[in-house]
Amino acid sequence: MQQVTFGKTGLTVSVAGLGSGGHSRLGQSYGNTTAQSIAIIHAAMDMGVNFIDTATAYGTEPIVGEAIKGRRDEVILSTKRIIFQKGTSPVGTDLLSGEDFMTGVEDNLKLLGTDCIDVLHLHGVFANQYDHCVRELVPALHKLREQGKIRCLGITERFISDTDHTMLSRALDDDFWDVVMTGFNMINPSARRTVLPKTQEKNIATLIMFAVRRALSDPTATAEIIRELAAADLIDTSELTLDSPFDFLLAPDIASSVTEAAYRFCRHEPGADVILTGTGSLDHLKENLDVLQMPPLPKQAQDKLRKIFGNVDSVSGN
Ligand SMILES: NC(=O)c1ccc[n+]([C@@H]2O[C@H](COP(=O)([O-])OP(=O)(O)OC[C@H]3O[C@@H](n4cnc5c(N)ncnc54)[C@H](OP(=O)(O)O)[C@@H]3O)[C@@H](O)[C@H]2O)c1
Repeated sequence: MQQVTFGKTGLTVSVAGLGSGGHSRLGQSYGNTTAQSIAIIHAAMDMGVNFIDTATAYGTEPIVGEAIKGRRDEVILSTKRIIFQKGTSPVGTDLLSGEDFMTGVEDNLKLLGTDCIDVLHLHGVFANQYDHCVRELVPALHKLREQGKIRCLGITERFISDTDHTMLSRALDDDFWDVVMTGFNMINPSARRTVLPKTQEKNIATLIMFAVRRALSDPTATAEIIRELAAADLIDTSELTLDSPFDFLLAPDIASSVTEAAYRFCRHEPGADVILTGTGSLDHLKENLDVLQMPPLPKQAQDKLRKIFGNVDSVSGN
């Protein structure tokens, strides 16, 4: 497995990271047993993945904790906590105090079976919550680090609605963050303009989510989203066929599937350190880890993608 230097964290990580959330949640969303989800984690580790991402909100921390028993030193553990009281509106004002946030982290440690989390993220932060993070939660994260309970400070955006990276654009003006997680994919590559130049300039480790999601793994969802973009006049439809928009990528010298093209597209983007892949299928896992180690898409394909989707910043691909 290819590895990269993870910003200024001092860590070396695999270019592929295993995501335990998204629509799949290690297959828990569609009936995988705990044993099957653990088998996915073990297979990923055995194939050289040393970065595992989870979150309180996914309900997969106990599964990750069980899977890494006796193998804790083989992985970089990344987890997240939401910053508001559960059951209240995420855009509401009921945001957690630093003290409550710190108390909650004890659960993450317990469920993961570790005494130190490598990367703890504030999960899915909206732009209008960011000031609170700076005032209340960053000091809490610093205390957790002083106590040896976390190693790196991270923050993730709510890409489903913050498709133009408003929150992260702002967060990256500060110097607190060791790690950020951003949405980036073939149909919304706007992080290329707003996030990745800053993370590279500041040497902040960067995780990519939404590489594939639904829009690039399910042909019906693909056609639907492309039609929406076309109807809103956001893409040049003379460059593609509406029903099968990515046919131009499916050629022997380009890619053998849309998901392959989608992961390779992200993998070679300057500033993209770890590409998260979320799956509950061993076949998908093997396929994805293979394609994440393949060369970049040919320049001609990249140019065409840039021409069609280069200015899109209003969809996530969810
Ligand atoms: N705001 C946040 O903090 C946030 C938000 C979203 C995600 N994340 C993190 O990012 C990780 C990646 O999330 P993502 O959902 O964006 O992952 P993704 O890898 O872009 O997409 C995963 C989806 O694609 C399917 N899939 C994967 N490989 C496939 C293949 N080869 N062929 C066909 N379908 C395939 C999966 O279903 P199968 O199970 O059927 O393979 C799953 O539904 C998450 O697990 C989570 O850790 C964080």
